[in-house]
Order: sequence, then C-alpha cells, then structure tokens
Amino acid sequence: MKVTKQKGTRDIYLDDIKIWQFVERNIREIANAYNLNEIRTPVFEATELFSRGVGEETDVVNKEMYTFLDKGGRSITLRPELTAGVVRSYIENGFDSYISPIKFWYMGNMYRYEKMQKGRFREFTQFGVEIFGSDSYLADVESILISYNLYKKLGILDKITLSINSIGCSECRAQYIKKLKDYIRPNLDKMCDTCKIRFDKNPLRMLDCKEERCKSILDNAPMITDNLCKECSDDFENLKEALNKASIPYVVDKRIVRGLDYYNKTVYEYVSNEYGIATGGGGRYDTLVETLGGNHVPAVGFGLGMDRIVMLLKESGFVNSATNDVDIYFILLNKEAHLNYLSLIFDLRNNGVNVDFDISNKSFKAQLKYANKINARFVCIIGEDEIKNNIGILKNMDTGEQINITLDLNNVLNNIK
Ligand code: HAM
Repeated sequence: MKVTKQKGTRDIYLDDIKIWQFVERNIREIANAYNLNEIRTPVFEATELFSRGVGEETDVVNKEMYTFLDKGGRSITLRPELTAGVVRSYIENGFDSYISPIKFWYMGNMYRYEKMQKGRFREFTQFGVEIFGSDSYLADVESILISYNLYKKLGILDKITLSINSIGCSECRAQYIKKLKDYIRPNLDKMCDTCKIRFDKNPLRMLDCKEERCKSILDNAPMITDNLCKECSDDFENLKEALNKASIPYVVDKRIVRGLDYYNKTVYEYVSNEYGIATGGGGRYDTLVETLGGNHVPAVGFGLGMDRIVMLLKESGFVNSATNDVDIYFILLNKEAHLNYLSLIFDLRNNGVNVDFDISNKSFKAQLKYANKINARFVCIIGEDEIKNNIGILKNMDTGEQINITLDLNNVLNNIK
C-alpha cells in the first residue's frame, strides 16, 4: 500500500518552488536592507513555552498544538508560531546585554492542527521579524515598513489591505474589559457557547466572533480604541501620522484583537482583498520577555504567511522568470565520451554554468528529447569521431544553428555566452 502525505501538508516542487524561491529571495533582500539579523530556532520546544507565552486560553494552545511526550517523558510541542521561541532564545542567550534595540528575522515551518480551508494548512511557513528593546512607536512603524515593503517588492500591494488597531496597555485594557463585560452581561445568555466561555477567560476575543447572533449584540459594544489611556492614545496617533507621512495606506479596524495573548498597544493584520483571510499579522508585545522569565524588554514584530503570499502570486498569474534552466546539455554517445569529458563538465559547473548530461545510457534521440524537455539553451554532441579531434557539435536550441567547437573550458565558455 502506498504511503501518502498527511492532511494539511504539501509537497512543493517544479513551477511552485520557483515562486517560493522568488519570495525567499525578496525576503533576504528586505532583511539586508533593514539591517535584520537572521535567527533559527528549534522546530520543537517545551510545551510550557507556548502555554505560558501564547496563552492557555488561545485556540492555538487549546486546540491546535501538536503535542507529544518524547521518549524521556518530556512534553514537547511542534512550534505553532515562532515569537515565543525567539523570545526564549533572546532570554537564554542574554541578547539584552548585547545591543539594544536588536532586530531579528526568520523564515520557518510551523504546525497547527487546524480545519483545512483555502490557504490554511497544518504545516505552513512564516517570514517573521521580532524587534527587541524599543518602546517607541517608531519600532512599530519600522515593523510595518518591513512587512509592507515585502508586499511592494513582490508586486501584490493591490491584493492586500493593512488594518491597524490599538488594544491598549494592561491598565487601560483592564478598565475597558470591565466596561465591555458590563455592556455584554445582560445579553450573555443569547450568545454562542464559545463567547460564553470567553466572557470569563478572554472577553476581548468575543469581538472576533463570526456568529451573526453574537455580532449583532456586539455591534454597539464599546471599543478598546475609543477607551485608550493618554499614553496609548498618543502612541496610536503617532503611528498613524508616521504611516501617513510614509504614504502607507491603512484602515483602522477597531475589531482587530489578534488570536494570541501576548499583544498590547499596536496590533495589525494584512488581509487578502479577494479572500478575506489574513496574509500576515503582528503587533507589540511588551510583557512577553518578562512572562517567559527575562527582564522587562519591550518588543514588536510580525509574521507573514508565506503559503498565502505564494497563493496570491500564483493566482495573479505570476511566473518566476529567473528560472534555472540548463545552459548546456552534453549528449555523450559512448562510454569514452562520458569518461573523457567528466572533468570538463566539472570545470564548467565550477564556473557557474548550469550543465547537465545523460546519466542513464539513453539513446541519441532520447537524450535530445530530454535536452528539449529541460529547456537546455545549448546541446553539445560528442561521439566517436568528435573524441578523436577533441571537438563537440554545439547546437543552439533556439536557432537550431550548429558549429564544431574545440572542447576546452574557455572555448566552451565563450561559445555559450
Ligand atoms: P498569526 O496571526 O497567528 O501570528 O500568524 C501570522 C500569519 O501566519 C497569518 O496571518 C497567516 O498568514 C499565517 N498562518 C497562520 N496560520 C496558518 C495556517 N494554518 N496556514 C497557513 N498560514 C497560516 C503569529 O503567528 C505571530 N507569531 C506573529 C507575530 C510575530 N507577532 C509578533 N511577532
């Protein structure tokens, strides 16, 4: 019986992998332009990191984690997101005594046991940035500039909308939550079961409920954005002013609260205009480093869903033109040809030329067909007669033109330019 891939996972190959490579290349260019340090952290971590860091009451921790006991009896979880892991690493490696602020970026797979939907997988990839050590709104601006710049570089700005909000600090949020609960309490029995649970455990998340009966009750609820303290309100105004100045279009969406518990003040999401799903999200998380045992270090960051970005590019008909097509394919017609020219092939490859040759003893016709299929720009045919004179028949596959060339490295290089 054949073994098949797991639900929610994919094999990525051929044309699709080229789109991924295009996105990855642009991410690396952005990382360089914004002076970001790459960080790679483990795919699995202690379960406690996420329950404490992301929050026991979040869907991610409650329902979606891949958690298991390893052979030593430790509770292990495949990372459902990377912020908690980067914060763990920040604390463990004492980065706060290195330089401050410091900006990290990462690209990696993460795992959530979710119901399958368009653009939603159980194994997915994020490009993320975490900026530690600044409580200024300027760090929030920088994080939005980075993420916005990536969409711009990829040419998909018209496919997404940036929505921002502020969910306040612990003080103004506590007062707001009391106000929100007072407003909801008289109608709580009419709301869905999830909202009833959230009322006690995480009332802000009720604003995210998609059930019509809950939405209609919440339509006139007080909003956190209208109940910020002076400091949070000033920060939010400063952020908006900076985005206006930088010509970054956004909408204020007072309902954005985010699904992970560590946020405060600025939160934001990029949403696909066509599908209404988030292609990225982030915000400020000033207490997470402390929560996970470090010093007080303010921080801000984001994660962009690369699978969804690739999906948008693909559906807009994007084709990665920077293909790695073969420059020259050697059609080698006997054992001697194979053995005599291995070192030339090695040297050409070592000079950055994309070279391929037959490794399965195909006939001449089959080798030519293969060269066509892999889009070789040139083929070089070497048979018994050619070996005697150290020449090859070089055929330009676009024009069909054929010439004899001497088979030394520089001559081949000159002829396939
Ligand atoms: P998040 O909103 O949970 O935030 O995920 C960020 C992005 O990852 C989403 O907007 C979406 O594009 C993508 N994503 C999430 N789940 C899936 C899935 N099942 N399939 C495909 N794509 C998915 C975080 O993870 C935070 N750690 C972001 C952050 C970094 N905040 C501060 N720093």
